[in-house]
Amino acid sequence: MRSLFSFIYVLSLIGVFSSCNLRAKKNLSHTEVIADAVFDNHSYANVRQIRTTHLHLDLDVNFENQTIYGVARHTMQNYGTDTAIFDIKGLEIQKITLGNGKEKETDFIIGQWDKDSILGQPLLVTITSKTKYINIYYKTTSKTEALGWLNPELTTGKKYPFVYTQGQAILTRSWIPLQDSPANRITYSAKVKVPEDLMAVMSAENPTKRNDKGEYSFQMKQPIPCYLIALAVGNIAYKKLGANCGVYSEPELLGSSANEFSDLPRMIQTAEKLYGKYRWEQYDLLVLPYSFPFGGMENPRLTFVNPTVIAGDKSLVSVIAHELAHSWSGNLVTNRSWDDFWLNEGFTVYFENRIMEALYGKEIADILALIEFQELQDDLKEIGQSEHPEDTRLKLQLRGRDPDDGLTDIAYVKGAFFLKSLERDAGRERLDKFLNSYFKAFAFKTVSSETFIEYLDKNLLVPQKINFNTNEWVYQKGIPKNCFQIISPRFNEIQSLADRFAKGENIFKRKVKWIKIKGRKKKKKQVIQLTRDKHIAQEWQAFIRRLPNTISAEKLREIDNNLHFRTWTNSEIQYEWFIKGIRANYSDILPATERFLLKVGRRKYVAPIYKELAKTPKNLKWAREVFSKAGEHYHPVTKNTVQEMLYANGVK
Ligand code: BES
Ligand code: ZN
Repeated sequence: MRSLFSFIYVLSLIGVFSSCNLRAKKNLSHTEVIADAVFDNHSYANVRQIRTTHLHLDLDVNFENQTIYGVARHTMQNYGTDTAIFDIKGLEIQKITLGNGKEKETDFIIGQWDKDSILGQPLLVTITSKTKYINIYYKTTSKTEALGWLNPELTTGKKYPFVYTQGQAILTRSWIPLQDSPANRITYSAKVKVPEDLMAVMSAENPTKRNDKGEYSFQMKQPIPCYLIALAVGNIAYKKLGANCGVYSEPELLGSSANEFSDLPRMIQTAEKLYGKYRWEQYDLLVLPYSFPFGGMENPRLTFVNPTVIAGDKSLVSVIAHELAHSWSGNLVTNRSWDDFWLNEGFTVYFENRIMEALYGKEIADILALIEFQELQDDLKEIGQSEHPEDTRLKLQLRGRDPDDGLTDIAYVKGAFFLKSLERDAGRERLDKFLNSYFKAFAFKTVSSETFIEYLDKNLLVPQKINFNTNEWVYQKGIPKNCFQIISPRFNEIQSLADRFAKGENIFKRKVKWIKIKGRKKKKKQVIQLTRDKHIAQEWQAFIRRLPNTISAEKLREIDNNLHFRTWTNSEIQYEWFIKGIRANYSDILPATERFLLKVGRRKYVAPIYKELAKTPKNLKWAREVFSKAGEHYHPVTKNTVQEMLYANGVK
């Protein structure tokens, strides 16, 4: 069988295979059929001719050879075509059948890779204009980029293996053959077989207990875009945190996870009060092993979280507010294409900050927003000097490029400041009312930047006679002049503290002050000493950032002696401090940096550290040594990024 398929494949490459009615009718070559189908620049699927409405997965997760054996059973809405095109990337297709119950094998062709191997390959299946059911038998391979397989020693418990998926942006096609465009929504169900001592969970209705057979069933009844299909298998336990929410994690992390995320019920209530009812019934978190490449991923009903978010003092829970907010912006109302990514992330960052403000106060929310605004400045500079300076527009043009290129603070922070600026001009009440109606109007739909702008004009700007430069924000480079400015006295204070330290002032000196207390004759002695607990983690983060790049190792050591950043297990502090240290040749931080890189696989942290190391030959050599050990446990998403940083052309 295999040889027949490869024969067909070879024929298709040289363009002589032609059996399809559609092609015959229109007289199109395969390449033309594919080109004709384009509906999303990052998918080959011909969803305008035929589209999946429901997907059922039969999966067998095999840890011995790190392979998922699957059948993807697509229920299709067929508008009368004789070819169905799916996306695949690094999958082995074994056979394809048509029909429900009684299945009949059909022909298929696997097309060529795109030039830079970003999209994967189109899978063309021969069907009839009446075909409704297509079943694709497949297995994953070592090239499957969505999957992070972990041997037991890389988990917290160190006894059981773990596997998890990461679908966004276009990696779902590497573990399931499907029409991988965010513009097509599907419902899904699954039957998953795993080793008996492990439990499986998905972005769907989930079990809360392990069963002895290792067989799990899942249902996602609300239609979602494919990038939100997710699976994790491991030694997983559950703890309820509220009426409709809880947390899954390895048993060893369950206690600390439950403590850290105990505000979850209040977060959900707050979010609902802001932008309408939570539409997915249950909201759970799944704390993954440290290799998870992101801080969080908004898989519906089951947000995936990196354990680095567990700082021990709830200082990083804005990540949870963020992923929860995606239950509205992103999951309920989804970006039409990856060019409209800011509609997912910008709205979510704005929404996240509103949740943080409601729960922890405006002072804290402003500090968080300023930290992000600084990151936006860095990205603006970097993108401005890159080969794609146009990427500072909210609406992107990622055709022919990896949609990951759009994963910058333009979408996140410029997007959020667009809404903050609009809030200032329209008033909070009006903007909130508008956003409520927007989430209702487009619930379970997809939205492009153009659709959004039209809706905004019609429902807010025109009726309220508000003059707002939406087009400049969305279609022009850089940050418009009317960008909202945050004023935070606390932020200013910590920055001036850093300035004073850099200028030579001894900020750690104990000071004694005599203060007068009302109604008492004697003054009271007060000792003032700068300690770490005087400020929140993000203030210290701002402090570190403000230190000049030319600061000496000696000065950094002085800070460490007093504030102990080097041993602080707050991941945001760690990565900033390590980078500062590398820059200053402050070698005391290298052992801690190495331990961090060997443990954590979150790309946001790991990539900038390696990038900094790659700047000098000596550090680069050291970085390569660390990576040769650490790379093993990184998820492909992180591994590929770092690989490029350390070994790309130009890096010596
Ligand atoms: N959806 C994103 C993660 C993502 C985006 C993965 C695009 C792949 C492609 C998620 O919601 C996210 O933004 N995570 C952030 C945390 C957030 C608080 C900014 C992260 O992982 O750092
Ligand atoms: Zn996000």
